[in-house]
Amino acid sequence: MMISMVAAIGKNRQLGKDNQLLWHISEDLKNFKRLTLERPIVMGRKTFESIGKPLPKRVNIILTRDENFRAENCEVFHDKETLLQWCQNQSFSEVVIIGGSEIYKLFLPETKKLFLSRVDYDGPADVYFPDFDETKWSLKNEVNHPALSNSPAWSFHEYELN
Ligand SMILES: NC(=O)c1ccc[n+]([C@@H]2O[C@H](COP(=O)([O-])OP(=O)(O)OC[C@H]3O[C@@H](n4cnc5c(N)ncnc54)[C@H](OP(=O)(O)O)[C@@H]3O)[C@@H](O)[C@H]2O)c1
Repeated sequence: MMISMVAAIGKNRQLGKDNQLLWHISEDLKNFKRLTLERPIVMGRKTFESIGKPLPKRVNIILTRDENFRAENCEVFHDKETLLQWCQNQSFSEVVIIGGSEIYKLFLPETKKLFLSRVDYDGPADVYFPDFDETKWSLKNEVNHPALSNSPAWSFHEYELN
């Protein structure tokens, strides 16, 4: 089972603030959809609450320590090992980690593919993508997108673990 990760980060690896994203880039949201549609997605409880509902046409998997947490049409787990074992039992060929910062940090050691949107954003944040060692990753693809009147420039980077 391949574990991949999708994230959009600012110049200093900013991810979000006040449990919200920091920008709205519709082309990047389309890209996110392309990378996750029909696949199982794993997220932390805070990211789930930030999105507010399960994402359609995907198996939504939530990690929380709260044994009483329930979310309709979602699979809920309380530790990484049980979550991964369940995914193996489902015979998923790929699982996509979609954040936030705690969940990226937790699953980075198992991740083999990293889809990073690097956004031209220099502002504040309260959560960050983990500081990962770029020398351990090969850049397989890079696509640059210019700024638009209502959204910053960004570039899509596709990495594979060496
Ligand atoms: N830019 C991006 O690509 C992107 C993507 C996703 C999210 N975000 C942003 O990231 C922020 C949310 O990230 P976050 O780091 O605050 O929260 P998060 O990673 O989404 O969720 C954290 C929660 O996950 C649960 N958790 C964490 N480790 C666990 C473990 N080992 N076992 C069981 N449960 C565990 C806990 O839930 P309980 O407290 O319920 O126990 C914890 O509070 C928001 O601002 C969001 O907009 C950005």
